[in-house]
Amino acid sequence: MRYSCPQTVQPRPSTHESPGNGDLMRAQAWQWEGLLHISQNRVAVLLLAGGQGTRLGVTYPKGMYDVGLPSHKTLFQLQAERILKLQQLAEKCHGNRCTIPWYIMTSGRTMRSTEEFFAKHRYFGLQKENVVFFQQGMLPAMSFDGKILLEEKSKVSMAPDGNGGLYRALAAWDIVGDMERRGVGCVHVYCVDNILVRVADPRFIGFCVQQGADCCAKVVEKTNPTEPVGVVCRVDGVYQVVEYSEISLATAQRRSPDGRLLFNAGNIANHFFTVPFLRDIVNDLSLLPSVHEPQLQHHVAQKKIPYVDSQGQLIEPDKPNGIKMEKFVFDIFQFAKKFVVYEVLREDEFSPLKNADSQNGKDNPTTARHALMSLHHCWVLNAGGHFIDENGCRLPAIPRTAAHGQPEAVTAGVVDNLKDASDNPIQCEVSPLSSYAGEGLESLVANREFHAPLIIDEHGAHELVKNGL
Ligand code: UD1
Repeated sequence: MRYSCPQTVQPRPSTHESPGNGDLMRAQAWQWEGLLHISQNRVAVLLLAGGQGTRLGVTYPKGMYDVGLPSHKTLFQLQAERILKLQQLAEKCHGNRCTIPWYIMTSGRTMRSTEEFFAKHRYFGLQKENVVFFQQGMLPAMSFDGKILLEEKSKVSMAPDGNGGLYRALAAWDIVGDMERRGVGCVHVYCVDNILVRVADPRFIGFCVQQGADCCAKVVEKTNPTEPVGVVCRVDGVYQVVEYSEISLATAQRRSPDGRLLFNAGNIANHFFTVPFLRDIVNDLSLLPSVHEPQLQHHVAQKKIPYVDSQGQLIEPDKPNGIKMEKFVFDIFQFAKKFVVYEVLREDEFSPLKNADSQNGKDNPTTARHALMSLHHCWVLNAGGHFIDENGCRLPAIPRTAAHGQPEAVTAGVVDNLKDASDNPIQCEVSPLSSYAGEGLESLVANREFHAPLIIDEHGAHELVKNGL
């Protein structure tokens, strides 16, 4: 379906909050509330990792990708360590030892290698029983004239049924039951490829809980009409995401009188759902028809699908030759009783890994690596650290500006503007085991001077060159 702005479209949902308006007290209250829920074992995270990483061009699950950080941590490891750190922060704040269970949805294409990777890395320090793998379904791929394509002579070409295959998989694997047995009340659902993802973000959780929402989407401001992000809006009175592949260019380009895009609530695939809401969606799906899930429509994507022809010859098409049918994770927004939107700063929370470096100047390993290092550079500056060049001179001071929830803080955007025109950010990486979102670095860096590359981990701050690493 292609949207071209029907009359009843409301571009910005009415309950739309942002911690970026400088109200530190409010942001701290959300954080406290979120940490309280985490400390009571009431929060889980759910990773959508059944995609095939076609655009990135790898044959293994995207979470296993190393974007080339100084530590060479993979996306899975960064996420695991953020969970570990958050458990510690919640315990420190509220005095209870706690667990954030991690549910990982894979597909027939990614299940085995994902499980093996986690086992090989000893679950990155998490407890095995708190990392729960399950598998989404697959659907046959078809040619444009509706014929089923064959992957091999006697094998139908199958593809994962989209990240909205989540709901069938939740029912089939009794995942909502597992959440209920653990006493989990809400879930942060997110995509695997955003290197800056704040897994189980306590502010986001606290905000949703305080709003009494059963469903929430985290967004960033979309500024480029052709950016491949869906936009959250209200169509005919119901909330939904209009996917980038389904919005017309003319609609995407529409602007408000202030010059900003009209449809600018860019979906960063970070969703909050309460467990009772998920229960309603999947209810008895395995036994009786569910109330909601069958109402989710399939979206049709045109893809390049390798197939064998009538002579048994493998054909690798260079342009789309068929369709795959997918459900989308956000298509359940329409069933929410209270839906809210939470807007964050792109430079703090969104840098997805979609493409290979060779393909495209955007959303690739280089941009992901730079986004993380720019952010961590800011964290060090905000904690009172300084960087010096090879002559011992301090690198130029960065003007201070209001950042979200932290008046007077430096933002990655500001650093981006100032950094070397060669697009070479200062190499600085903070382990999630040291800091979840920039907190707690003062004792390690305040009033100290560093040469880049700098790594800050649970053992302290290390200059890689000085240490000959
Ligand atoms: C997705 C969002 C888009 C958002 C963008 C932000 C959906 C449908 N679209 O788009 O609105 O603006 O991210 O980066 O969510 N996945 C599965 N199973 C599948 C297919 C995908 O688990 O069958 C997972 C992937 O592993 C990934 C996530 O879903 O973690 C998103 O998939 P991807 O194809 O990268 O989505 P985009 O088209 O980039």
